[in-house]
Amino acid sequence: MNSLWILSCLAFISTVYGCGVPAIPPVISSYSRIVNGVEAVPHSWPWQVSLQGATGFHFCGGSLINEWWVLSAAHCNVRTSHHVVLGEHNHSADTEDIQVLRIDKVFKHPMFSSVSLGYDIVLIKLASPAQLNAHVSPVCVAETSDNFAGRMTCVTTGWGLTRHNAPGTSPVLQQVSLPLLTNDECKRYWGAMITKTMICAGASGISPCMGDSGGPLVCKTSGAWTLVGIVSWGSSRCSTSTPGVYALVTELHSWINQTITANKVLL
Ligand SMILES: *[C@@H]1O[C@H](CO)[C@@H](O)[C@H](O)[C@H]1NC(C)=O
Ligand SMILES: *[C@@H]1O[C@H](CO)[C@@H](O)[C@H](O)[C@H]1NC(C)=O
Repeated sequence: MNSLWILSCLAFISTVYGCGVPAIPPVISSYSRIVNGVEAVPHSWPWQVSLQGATGFHFCGGSLINEWWVLSAAHCNVRTSHHVVLGEHNHSADTEDIQVLRIDKVFKHPMFSSVSLGYDIVLIKLASPAQLNAHVSPVCVAETSDNFAGRMTCVTTGWGLTRHNAPGTSPVLQQVSLPLLTNDECKRYWGAMITKTMICAGASGISPCMGDSGGPLVCKTSGAWTLVGIVSWGSSRCSTSTPGVYALVTELHSWINQTITANKVLL
């Protein structure tokens, strides 16, 4: 009886904090039109990370993929002096139960190019593990073999500018749902700048903007949210009729896997 209870309890814990399943469900109003986004239900995207400078200045987003590792964009230029902040919703509130974690190591993809913005991905190893709870849990990471079709509706989240000339980033986490594009469709906007480590989404009246970089593009498959893209680049005016470009996680999965495997935390 006792052991049965413990077993069902463990099953409950792993369900709640398994990847891609927020304890607080997000609410997605259909095509809510980060430019033209809406405020997220607080803590309903529990893998969302804020990367901050030593003074608490938010400069990029990221995604928690397990208790030791965060994915973000290489062009964010993360350094070990920066902090990873988890469990945050409103940057202006000082009453949130946030985790401010130090960074042990930063692994930028060796093929990242600041000119072409190919391979725009960085793995951040935390100096101490994130404490998983109802506000902090990991996202699933797309596998190499996964296929995310054009037109599928996905979600991107961030604290970025709500318009390109806004005075500052949004204090509260914003979300927006948007369709994926095939790379052929995206080339109609961006031409040869679109390469195989990129995926486009949007051009549907919404757009990620400065400050959203590094943050997640997630799609829901079989009940769990999966990280498909990492906010990388787009129109400098955050135009809502031009697709945003994301680092394509399926293409980068083997590097993620190898890097994590080669830098396992020995307990
Ligand atoms: C964020 O927190 C500040 C400070 O507590 C508060 O004044 C503001 O209303 C909050 N913003 C939202 C959108 O809840
Ligand atoms: C790496 O990939 C192998 C084979 O696909 C898998 O068994 C293993 O769990 C992965 N490791 C990590 C750290 O994701």
